[in-house]
Amino acid sequence: MDPSFELEMWPDQEKGPIDRQSLLSKCKEVDAVITMLSDKIDKEFFDNCKNIKVIAQYAVGYNNIDTSEAKKRNIVVTNTPDVLTDATAELALSLLLSCARKINQASDNVKQNQWKDWEPMGFLGKSLKNTTVAIIGAGRIGQEFARKCHGAFNSDIIYYSRSKKENFEKELNAKKMELNDLLKHADIISLHCPLNDETKELLNYERLLQCKKDAILINTARGEVINQQDLIKVIKMGHFHSVGLDVTTPEPLEGQNPLKSFDNVLICPHIGSATVNTRTEMGTLCARNVKNVLSGLPPETEVNY
Ligand code: DGY
Repeated sequence: MDPSFELEMWPDQEKGPIDRQSLLSKCKEVDAVITMLSDKIDKEFFDNCKNIKVIAQYAVGYNNIDTSEAKKRNIVVTNTPDVLTDATAELALSLLLSCARKINQASDNVKQNQWKDWEPMGFLGKSLKNTTVAIIGAGRIGQEFARKCHGAFNSDIIYYSRSKKENFEKELNAKKMELNDLLKHADIISLHCPLNDETKELLNYERLLQCKKDAILINTARGEVINQQDLIKVIKMGHFHSVGLDVTTPEPLEGQNPLKSFDNVLICPHIGSATVNTRTEMGTLCARNVKNVLSGLPPETEVNY
């Protein structure tokens, strides 16, 4: 017989993510929690929530969870890989196309009643055909984004990753490169790596300046992979054709952040996995992971740490 569970949901979407005090008090006695990437799951959380057996993260990235603390306490951590690969790669591609063709500026022009005439030189964009696309972090999402660019634009694919990806290289003729070389060669740079000690501020001032001056930079990974102050500095200096960000530091991005002032920077509120099908699959995968662990079965997608 299926075990039965009592479920409590943080009720108020309007108020946004659960506040720290409510998270700690509501989780004090529970056996499992389904977490959002905005919930900090740290030593204080584990000290407070002594019954927790499984943390099921409703995201593929889990940099908000102290996994070494979880490991010490034999707490299982799961995430939602695979089910959001297509949605996130599609969002990266949407950002790329919108940046290349100035879609947001063009649309704002119409909505602000500034469309006066057909302009031979108006909103000239950047062609994507035969471009060189650099993938930083060639995991599932990075590879899928590369596949889409290769298919749609006949792009050459170069990548930076800890390990060599034999099948990816065979399938797309992708070439692994050192980071500095890769940045110099790419027309498009797309970030898909997890956030950890090795990738935090991977793109800093020196590295951003190595990119081609008219490159397009896309980030659907985590804001902290780029040193954002450095990014603002180099954009002010005229670097980058355009930048498409689904992630920022912090999230939400504060009111007066200078990133919002650039015409050629497109910012989305972390919507990489936001399709109805994907979010449904993420939710059911989290629920199956919780159910498995609490029933003494292995989870489907345990985080490797
Ligand atoms: C994740 O799941 O980590 C992604 O950020 C979703 O967009």
